Amino acid sequence: MNIRIPDHVRRLTPYVPGKPIEEAERQLGIREVVKLASNENPLGPSPRALEAMRAAAGRVHRYPDGHGYALRLALAARHGVPATQVVLGNGSTELLEVAAKAFLSSERGAVVAEPAFIMYRIAVAAMGAPLVSVPLREDRHDLPAMAAACDERTALVYIGNPNNPTGTYVTRSQMDEYFRRLPAHVLTVVDEAYFDYVEATDYPDCLEDLRAGRGVVVLRTFSKIHGLAGMRIGYAVTLKEVASALDAVRSPFNTSVLAQVAARAALEDTEHVARSRAENAREARFLSEELSRRGLEFVPPAANFLLVRTPARGEEVYQNLLRLGVIVRPMEAYGYSHAIRLSVGTRRENQRLLEALDRALS
Ligand SMILES: Cc1ncc(COP(=O)(O)O)c(C=O)c1O
Repeated sequence: MNIRIPDHVRRLTPYVPGKPIEEAERQLGIREVVKLASNENPLGPSPRALEAMRAAAGRVHRYPDGHGYALRLALAARHGVPATQVVLGNGSTELLEVAAKAFLSSERGAVVAEPAFIMYRIAVAAMGAPLVSVPLREDRHDLPAMAAACDERTALVYIGNPNNPTGTYVTRSQMDEYFRRLPAHVLTVVDEAYFDYVEATDYPDCLEDLRAGRGVVVLRTFSKIHGLAGMRIGYAVTLKEVASALDAVRSPFNTSVLAQVAARAALEDTEHVARSRAENAREARFLSEELSRRGLEFVPPAANFLLVRTPARGEEVYQNLLRLGVIVRPMEAYGYSHAIRLSVGTRRENQRLLEALDRALS
């Protein structure tokens, strides 16, 4: 055999997701593990989505509608855009990869913030495309520096808003200034995975930028507030010609029958979204107060997760918490040796976490 792995693929470090509950229980021989590692909705899926999936289960011997007609129509109506500007994906992660596949090459690269959601970097590197990383400034995207980093070879900029893992956001005025400075040939992928959790009034809805004719791909997902992370469904809203380019390179049946019906039902379930947002706000406040009381430093959260600085190495704190049945996320891969990332859970889960933290840090 003389199989050659391309150098840019050989150099990739695979994404390490949050540890699944079943894996932790299997490895540690314990039960009732609490997972606060992947910024999921602790209240579970929308009940309406569950009902829709049950009703559609008998249809899974058929391929899904490859264009997701009904869901795209519902999303288009919700956002006031034509359905031709909506593209569905196997989670928003697939769509940020599809954007890379459509727009990047060894000659045309991307600008990302560092640290940000690791999949931006992996999506760019997997294309063998030039990557420019711009460090965060005070835990936020440094948008002036990101705009300044764009040159003739730049095709894409990825902006996570709010950013993962810091939980910070850039404001409307910062975003406006960024677009004023950005070269006209650059397309900006704005990842708004946590959009519905954000309560700050100066948080920008980048669909407004799209309606104003700016070159953006707005990514949203059903994985977070809608509680459908396991179904894998997200979407992009973008300019018509960009949507056509994304559609041209995505795989034909990238979203399943069940994912499409679940998402449609979850979109209508405004009650579940409102309850999830309210509970998250309350529990984020509770966690913030409790962490402060313990003298732990953290970045004030805009969404449903917190970056917490730890006195010991984050990996060590993570392992100690794991042994106590609480899964959080160590932050070494994001470049923080002394930090963990916590998702906001239910009150019971947050209390379990705090008790475990007290023991792990003592
Ligand atoms: C900023 C950000 N974007 C995207 C995702 C992934 O979303 P999806 O499940 O839609 O692929 C995550 C998941 O944690 C995230 O933090």
